[in-house]
Amino acid sequence: MVILESAAALQAQTESWRQAKLRVGLVPTMGALHEGHLQLVRAAAQANDVVVVSVFVNPTQFNNAEDFRLYPRVPEADAALLAPAGCTALFLPSVEQMYAQPTVLRFDFGPLEQVMEGEHRPGHFHGVATVVSKLFHMSRPHRAYFGQKDLQQVAIIRQLVADLSFDLELVAYPTIREADGLAMSSRNRRLAPDARLVAPRLYQALTLGATLVEEQKLSPEAVQQTVAHYLAQESSIELEYFAVADAHTLQPVSGGWVAGSTVALCLAAHVGGVRLIDNVVVPLP
Ligand code: PAJ
Repeated sequence: MVILESAAALQAQTESWRQAKLRVGLVPTMGALHEGHLQLVRAAAQANDVVVVSVFVNPTQFNNAEDFRLYPRVPEADAALLAPAGCTALFLPSVEQMYAQPTVLRFDFGPLEQVMEGEHRPGHFHGVATVVSKLFHMSRPHRAYFGQKDLQQVAIIRQLVADLSFDLELVAYPTIREADGLAMSSRNRRLAPDARLVAPRLYQALTLGATLVEEQKLSPEAVQQTVAHYLAQESSIELEYFAVADAHTLQPVSGGWVAGSTVALCLAAHVGGVRLIDNVVVPLP
């Protein structure tokens, strides 16, 4: 595995691979890697000849300076995990490499980002779209891998790829969970032991919600209230939002259920001071 630290080095490396007719897979990450990330890397290694993994804590997608400061950074441990997972090149740029000058271009994804993460973290998806566009241009991958754990991020990137005609295949990978259901996340490292014990309740709430959606006995609004009430019983969980949405448009479902649609249940909550997100999708017959 080679470690590349400059955009020029990444561009030169991936260009020579393309010349040699090798298929390039890209897995963008912010590091502090866990099994969820590694499964993306393994999937990329299986379907492509070479795999680029970027590890970059992207300042422009954090709307909270403290969150950016506290985000775990363990590049040596990440590098040790990546080679055995099938990573060919680790891209580890500095902030100066990625942002030689402040960007002026603004991304606006309209209704897609006026809900959930976009609504609660203003500017977040502008930052994600900026850095992902840069990574796409620098590595020009044939396939790029993203996790459904960040469902809205996948929808945003899909729109980005369509609107800017990026010539690549977007692969959305299912959410990887701990044995007790907690979605794997780099932020889980910041959970104190008591918060870690409570955190699986988020997935339990989503599972409860999924059952209620499948039954279709309650209205979308009633499902929303029931799940919020379930989470309110645990005083150390502070729910930021719980959305019952259409999985494709991400707009709220209201009034009744639509046959043949796919419903996404998405939440963000603070557990012991750590912000976690999770979701499940439920296809309706
Ligand atoms: P990060 O949170 O490090 O996640 C990197 C990729 O791993 C994302 O596509 C994310 O959805 C996926 N992922 C994280 N946890 C997962 C899990 N439990 N199961 C499956 N996939 C999981 O998302 C970002 O970084 C950034 O926004 C980024 C796209 C790199 C842009 O900066």
